[in-house]
Amino acid sequence: MTKKRARALPTIHRFPEVDSTQDAARALIDAGRAREGHIIVADVQRTGRGRYGREWRSPPGGLYATMILAARPLIAIEIGVAIVRALDVFDLRADLKWPNDIEVEGRKLAGTLIERVGDRLLVGIGVNLKEAPIPTAVSVKEIGATASRAELLLGIWQHLQGGSGSERLLDSYRGRSSTLGRRVRVTKESGRTIEGIAMDIDENGHLLVETEQRTEGIASGTCIHL
Ligand code: BTN
Repeated sequence: MTKKRARALPTIHRFPEVDSTQDAARALIDAGRAREGHIIVADVQRTGRGRYGREWRSPPGGLYATMILAARPLIAIEIGVAIVRALDVFDLRADLKWPNDIEVEGRKLAGTLIERVGDRLLVGIGVNLKEAPIPTAVSVKEIGATASRAELLLGIWQHLQGGSGSERLLDSYRGRSSTLGRRVRVTKESGRTIEGIAMDIDENGHLLVETEQRTEGIASGTCIHL
């Protein structure tokens, strides 16, 4: 008889309030108190941030966490898929808007921020559970669902441990993407704007946009569904 191996539980560092869980994670790593497999969670963030240094408002009641993981390719895809799958358990069907938004009917429910520290990644996760802090956002509560912060966090963590191959992962992402097949306008980090149809994501997680001239692969940027 084969014995099922129990999945290791993460070590969690919980704080009532921090500036940003990303910074708290860095400080704990520097102090030798946190390492790969640890999660930093805060009830409130004073200066939570999103991509490109944007503000991530973090009132009480939301999920604000940073997971310390070994650097690996496709993490942005992997974390998005893990979050939507963890939300499925609460009967909450969310979509993935490239590159890092988790949305319900076009309103942002969650976002992820990935920063690198040496050979580790700080994978920041923000989910609006009770309150949607800006008009274009939505919360789990507003949708009429209930998701406990601890269960959601553990669910995300467990989905990340699944380790499916990259083709399966990309297929899962494609199946939950609200971007693919749509007309989009993407502003690249260089400031260049590309408009066309989002056809696919490639093996690197780059968005393939078909413009009138050619198909372009885009590594990162800000995407608007037109
Ligand atoms: C985005 O949508 O631009 C990314 C938002 C990421 C927010 C999370 S909340 C936990 C972690 N700490 C931060 O300061 N940001 C991330």
